[in-house]
Amino acid sequence: MWREAGLGGVRVLIDAGPTYEDIDPVRFLGNRSSGKMGFAVAAAAAEAGAQVSLVAGPVALATPPGVARRIDVRSARQMHAAVMDAVADADVFIAAAAVADWRVADYSPRKIKKGPTGAPTLVLIENPDILADVAARDPRPFVVGFAAETDRVAEHAREKLERKKLDMLAANRVDEHAGIAADDNALELIWPGGGESLPRAPKAELARALVARIAAHYQAWKPV
Ligand code: C5P
Repeated sequence: MWREAGLGGVRVLIDAGPTYEDIDPVRFLGNRSSGKMGFAVAAAAAEAGAQVSLVAGPVALATPPGVARRIDVRSARQMHAAVMDAVADADVFIAAAAVADWRVADYSPRKIKKGPTGAPTLVLIENPDILADVAARDPRPFVVGFAAETDRVAEHAREKLERKKLDMLAANRVDEHAGIAADDNALELIWPGGGESLPRAPKAELARALVARIAAHYQAWKPV
């Protein structure tokens, strides 16, 4: 089915993986994202005929076959800059990255030492929201977000779809068996006025199902 509603010639921009927020030259704040889901989506989109650009946080993953361009970044601000640089040429934007919500306010260019004053206090400041910034553009691509939730998945996902003004959102429950950094995943796919559950499957399989839904919705949404 997804082959009919494919992505032939469609320019798809995807961000994936975690971001690292440096504290000093040897320490950082990170998260458990492996980038596997975003890379699987990039592979599936390329397979469906899209021209894929992939902005990757720090991950240990090879570029999937068929991906036209990969830009490696480390921090949320670098990821934001790379996405904003590429988004004007994108028809579809898929935000699969686990972007750090906060960064350290004062990066220390020297390694912070233990000392008589005790443990340091880290002051955090908010990072830009890449997904919301892309969705606020005019004109803008078809925008797909991800949401990892530990509770009330559907409710939080619907709220996020509306608040960030997304065309589609793929939400998953994060627990010890599935979700972040795991090989399997299940997704609650929602869009304004509808939704569909994609049952638990290996990430490659799930990514193909997701890309098929994105292709169908994009074809109906795209400006003529
Ligand atoms: O609000 P929350 O962080 O749960 O939203 C998750 C979605 O927003 C994901 O698609 C993620 O890539 C995106 N996001 C972003 N920039 C941020 C935070 C989240 O693009 N600073």
